[in-house]
Formats: sequence, structure tokens, C-alpha cells
Amino acid sequence: MKIGISGASGKLGAATVAALKLHAPDAQLVGISRSPDKVSALGIEARFGDFDQPDSLTTAFAGLERLLIIPSGDMRPGVRATQGHDAIQRAVDAGVGHVVFTSALGTRAAEIPHLWQSYFVPEQTLMRLAKKWTILRMAYYAEAFIDEVRMSLPGGVHAATSNTPVNFVARDDVAAAAAGILVGEGHHGAIYQATGPSALDGVARAALVAQVTGKRFAFAAISDAQYRDGLAAAGLPPFLVDAVLGIQDMWSVGGFDVTTGDVERLAGRPPQSLEDALRSAQL
Ligand SMILES: NC(=O)c1ccc[n+]([C@@H]2O[C@H](COP(=O)([O-])OP(=O)(O)OC[C@H]3O[C@@H](n4cnc5c(N)ncnc54)[C@H](OP(=O)(O)O)[C@@H]3O)[C@@H](O)[C@H]2O)c1
Repeated sequence: MKIGISGASGKLGAATVAALKLHAPDAQLVGISRSPDKVSALGIEARFGDFDQPDSLTTAFAGLERLLIIPSGDMRPGVRATQGHDAIQRAVDAGVGHVVFTSALGTRAAEIPHLWQSYFVPEQTLMRLAKKWTILRMAYYAEAFIDEVRMSLPGGVHAATSNTPVNFVARDDVAAAAAGILVGEGHHGAIYQATGPSALDGVARAALVAQVTGKRFAFAAISDAQYRDGLAAAGLPPFLVDAVLGIQDMWSVGGFDVTTGDVERLAGRPPQSLEDALRSAQL
């Protein structure tokens, strides 16, 4: 079976390639990105494909039976929605039999510049156009939270605009779930949710960090305006401030307050807890 992984040069893509090599050593893997040299380093076939040059994707996706589309991290308003739409359209045009798209927990209709717009539009395109499709919505990366903790530890405070629980998932667990879909059967039409074993509110997250690190660490709920001012003062450009506020909105309305058993079902092993991820990070 010939399986394509777009974004194979990135962290989630490379982790998916590693999981596929482990669980489906006979599969022919094709990595697609704008930097094929990085993909070749993974020991798989590499093809050039740029979401911003859709014609390159028709060639890159040729002959694939299954394809994982991992969105780029381009936060400019509306860009990822167009990229995702075009990539799915080109995969269908190229005759890919089954397209898998990684999305975000809680995705729903939203307008630019809200981040949910960048996931909702491609999800809709996928359901409308692809012969066979699967969506893998992911929780907040444990790794992203750990980066935030690293930056916040000196001040001893992690802020958010609400205390709503958030689920955190390790990137390798998302990758293992994606690999399970790509080599498995019976996943057409399913929307899976790759989550860690529990969702934690802000107070519980801060207490966990304090317990694991042995350092003082507290949670602070602040207003949207305070959060926005803080990001602007740190020098973030306005479109990134909007993107980060969008994540806070996704959190506060409970978009990430979702816990499923999908990682274990798809990967055949339980997901890492946030506590384990924090301990491994050696903060
Ligand atoms: N749930 C969360 O908390 C969370 C946090 C962060 C990110 N994410 C999402 O998770 C996904 C992957 O994350 P990651 O950690 O693997 O990110 P990453 O390491 O930055 O990888 C991004 C990948 O996208 C590719 N890419 C970027 N622009 C492209 C373009 N124009 N055309 C084709 N490929 C392009 C990159 O390849 P080249 O540069 O080689 O083309 C790279 O392989 C992204 O969708 C991101 O938005 C989720």
C-alpha cells in the first residue's frame, strides 16, 4: 500500500512516519513537503509539494492510495483554510482513495481570523469531495503547554482567559493514532478525537506543574483585554495576537474539554498523561 504523509518534514509528520515504519513495515511511504531533503533523511520517498502552489500537489499526490494531510502552521488569517481546501481538492483530483485530515478538537463553523475557520473549511471540503475520508481532531499539544510552562516558570504564573478544563495530548500519541487510521480498515466517515487521558482546569494544571517541578506555580484567570495587551507588549504582530486569543476562546467555550479513548483504540496503547509528559520534560 502506498501511503502519503504531507508535512512529513515537520514534527507530527516525522512522528507519523516513525509510527508507520514500526507498525506497517511493508507499506510504501511517501513524504510530501516543500523541503524534500528533510523527508529523504527519514529514509522514505520524498516529493515536493507546496500548499501555496496547488499544481505541485497534483503531482505530489499521484499514485497514493491513502494520504494524511497535516495543515501547515501558517497563522495568517484565512491562509490555512485555503491551503487545506486546495490540498484536499488536489488529492481527490489525483485519485487518492482515502484522505485523512488532522484537525482540532471542538471544531465548528467560525469566521476569519478565528482558528476554527482554518479547520472547519477543510473538514467540510473533505466530507464533500473525498471518496473516503477520516478526520483526526487533536487536543492541545502537551509539548506546546510545556513550552508555555518553561517560559512561565520564572514568574511562577500561567495565565488563561478562563478556568475551563483543557485536554492535552502528546504529539507521538496523535502520530500513533494517525498511523492506526492510515493502515487500518473501517475508518471511512469517522471523526476521531486524539486526546490524553483527562482534561484539567487551569488551577489543576498549575498545581500539577508545581507538584512535578517542586516550584511555586499558580494559575491566573485574566480578561481577554489583559491577555491581548500582554501579547502585544511582548511584540507579537496583531494577526498572531488574534490567533492566540482564538486558542483562548477555543479553550474557554470548552472546545478542548473532551476526553476520549480514541488514541488507545487506534494506536493499541494508552496515551501519555500530562503528568508523564511534564516529568519527561525535566523542567
Ligand atoms: N493541537 C495543538 O496544540 C497544536 C499546536 C501546534 C500546532 N498544531 C498543528 O499541528 C500540525 C503539525 O504540527 P507540527 O508540530 O508537526 O508542526 P511543524 O513541525 O511546524 O510542521 C509543519 C509541517 O507543515 C509543512 N508545511 C508548512 N507550510 C507548507 C506549505 N506551504 N506547503 C506544504 N507543506 C507545508 C512543513 O513542511 P515544509 O516547511 O518542509 O514545507 C512541515 O512539515 C499543524 O497543523 C499545526 O497547526 C497543533
